[in-house]
Amino acid sequence: MPAAGLADSAVELAPGVHWVGALDPHLRNFDIILKTANGTSYNSYVVRGETGVAVIDTVKEEFADTFFARLESVARYDEISVIVLNHLEPDHSGALPELLKRAPQAKVYLSSRAQMMLKALLKPSGEKPPEYIPVTTDDEVDLGGRRLRFLHTPYLHWPDTQCTYLVEEGMLFSGDVFGCHFCDPRLFNDRVGDFRFSFEYYYAHIMRPFREYVLDAVALIEPLAIQLIAPAHGPILRHQPRDYVHRYRELATPRLFNEARSEKTLVVFYISAYGNTRRMAEALAAGAETIVGVRVSLYDLEGGESGIFTDLIEEADGLAFGSPTINGDAVKPIWDVLSSLTTVNVKGKLGAAFGSYGWSGEAVRLIEDRLRGLKLRVPVDGLRIKLVPDAGELAQCRNLGEQVARHLTGQIEQREISLAALA
Ligand code: FEO
Repeated sequence: MPAAGLADSAVELAPGVHWVGALDPHLRNFDIILKTANGTSYNSYVVRGETGVAVIDTVKEEFADTFFARLESVARYDEISVIVLNHLEPDHSGALPELLKRAPQAKVYLSSRAQMMLKALLKPSGEKPPEYIPVTTDDEVDLGGRRLRFLHTPYLHWPDTQCTYLVEEGMLFSGDVFGCHFCDPRLFNDRVGDFRFSFEYYYAHIMRPFREYVLDAVALIEPLAIQLIAPAHGPILRHQPRDYVHRYRELATPRLFNEARSEKTLVVFYISAYGNTRRMAEALAAGAETIVGVRVSLYDLEGGESGIFTDLIEEADGLAFGSPTINGDAVKPIWDVLSSLTTVNVKGKLGAAFGSYGWSGEAVRLIEDRLRGLKLRVPVDGLRIKLVPDAGELAQCRNLGEQVARHLTGQIEQREISLAALA
C-alpha cells in the first residue's frame, strides 16, 4: 500500500531522473539487528539519456509491484538498456529477477565482486544470468548525453558495493552509503522530519566496522561536484549533500587523542564478585605497564555500560577480559561488551582472558573462544585462578600482562628450549 501522499507515481529529481522506489513505513526490525522506528525505504532510480534508460538498483521483493508501477510511469521496459546494481543485498535486488524478465535486453553493470552473488541470486528463479559487465572506478556507461561513472567502494557494507555518479547532473547514487532507515514520503532531506539519529545509528551499525573502507570511499567522493546524493535507503540528500560526506569522514576518523602515537594500547576490562578477578586485573595491568611502549587502561565493567567503551575498543591494540565463572559461564557485563564488538572492526587485535573461579572455571575458555570467533589473535593462554590469588598467582598475572604487552610491541618472548625437551 503506498504511503499517504505519494501514490504510485515516480518522483522527479531532475528532468529525466526519477525516484521509483518503495516505502516500508511499518518495518520495525531490519535484518533482525537494526531497529527501524518509522520504517525504511528502498530507493531505486531511473536515469533517461538520449539513447538509453538506466535503472539503478531495485527494491525488496514484496514491494516489486509498487516499484514496477512507478517505473512504468517514466519508462517502457524495451527502453531500458542498463541496469546498475550498486549492491546485491535482497532489499535492493529483490525485484531484479522480474525486471530482467521484463527488460531482457538490458545489460547489467556491477562490481567484479558482485558477479558470483548475482549468479547465486538468480539460481532460485532458474533464470540464466543476464549479460553483465563488471566495472570499477572511472568506468563509464553512456546513455546518450548522460554518463554514469562508477566508483569502486567495496565493503560498504558488503564486498560487492559500489557507487554510481551521474556526471552531467552531479548526482551520486550511493547504495547503502549515506543511507538510513527513515521512512518519510516527503523524500528529500530538506522536507522530511529530523532524521539525524537514524543517519548516525545506521552508520554506527552498518558502516562503522568498515571504517577504513569508508575513508577510501570518501576520498573518491570528495573531489566530485555533487548536487545531490541519492542513497538506497532514507532521505534523498539534495540540501547541502556535501555535509553528509564530511560527516562520514568525521565518523570514520579515529577520535581518541593518543599523545604518543607510537604507543600500543591495551585495555583491560574486568568484573569481580569478591575482588579476586579485580586483583588479577590489577596485577595483569601492572605487568603490562612494565613493558616500554605500552599504555594500559583498566576498567571495571560494574561502573559502565558496554556502549560507552566502543570508541576505546575500536582504537585499542589489545583487549583483555577478566570474569569470574558463575553457573559455568562468564558474567553478563562481559558478554555485553563482547557482543558490542560486532559493530567495530576488531580483526587482528590481540585478545586475552583471565578470571578467578570457585568450582569449574569455564569463563576464561569461553571468552577466548569468543575472541577467536571475532578474529582477534589470542597468542597467550588465559589464566584461571581458584578463588583468592596468592602472591605466586599474582606474579603469574603480572607475567600474563608482560607477555601480552610483549606481543603487542612485537617483542615476543624467546623461549628457552632444553635439549632434554627435544629428546
Ligand atoms: Fe540496504 Fe545492505 O542493503
